[in-house]
Amino acid sequence: MITIKKPNEINKMRVAGKLTGDTLKYIEEYIKPGVTTAQINARIYEFITSHDAVPSFLGYHGYPASACVSVNDVVVHGIPGAYALCEGDIVSIDVGVIKDGWQGDAARTFAVGKISSAAQKLIDVTRECFFEGIKHARAGRRLGDLSAAIQRHAESHGYGVVRDMVGHGIGRKMHEDPSVPNFGQEGTGVQLKSGFTIAVEPMINAGTFKITFDPDGWTTRTADGSLAAHYENTVLIRDGEPEILTLT
Ligand code: MF3
Ligand code: CO
Repeated sequence: MITIKKPNEINKMRVAGKLTGDTLKYIEEYIKPGVTTAQINARIYEFITSHDAVPSFLGYHGYPASACVSVNDVVVHGIPGAYALCEGDIVSIDVGVIKDGWQGDAARTFAVGKISSAAQKLIDVTRECFFEGIKHARAGRRLGDLSAAIQRHAESHGYGVVRDMVGHGIGRKMHEDPSVPNFGQEGTGVQLKSGFTIAVEPMINAGTFKITFDPDGWTTRTADGSLAAHYENTVLIRDGEPEILTLT
């Protein structure tokens, strides 16, 4: 069942979304060589909780941290730990917050110091995929229109679109209907309606779309060891332009 958010609920999602976006903005300046992924997670925990909000990932299906910190070939769900970032790494940071019972979910891939032009291009194209997709994020369009646009842009650069993980509806719960794949066919899927809120999150690999899971059950890597990038926002569907709730 896809829920349509009422105006007062949308206002609460705006607040949660803003805090989510602000968390990513806040963390950006701490991303530099020598910083451990655990330190990044600790700062994110402090930031969210000091704003009277709850980090939604912490304890979610047993996930042990407040953020996913995914370095280089890690696509998503990297568990923060002792690894210290190195010049040239790329790091995807995914955070979710619950504020007043409503959720925000967003991710960005950041450069650590100076990175290769190939890595920068992957980051840029992944972000572009999101914006290509949400051109179709408006009432009356179908989800497949959005999915196909993301896939087309990524594949036009020779990149692989992760199939096994997808975006999602979001609201009182982090994961609601519908699934929001980053691949698909125009003119298919559910018709979008004003008041839907969805997390659109292209996960794009420089090489194959195939992924593997580490024994920890979370860490998700590209099967060929190529770099991966992630860009996510929580988006409100309206009759016209969508509202991006987590872009601050
Ligand atoms: N943004 C991710 C998602 O949409 C975050 C989930 S990580 C978890 O699924 F740890 F919370 F599971
Ligand atoms: Co998400």
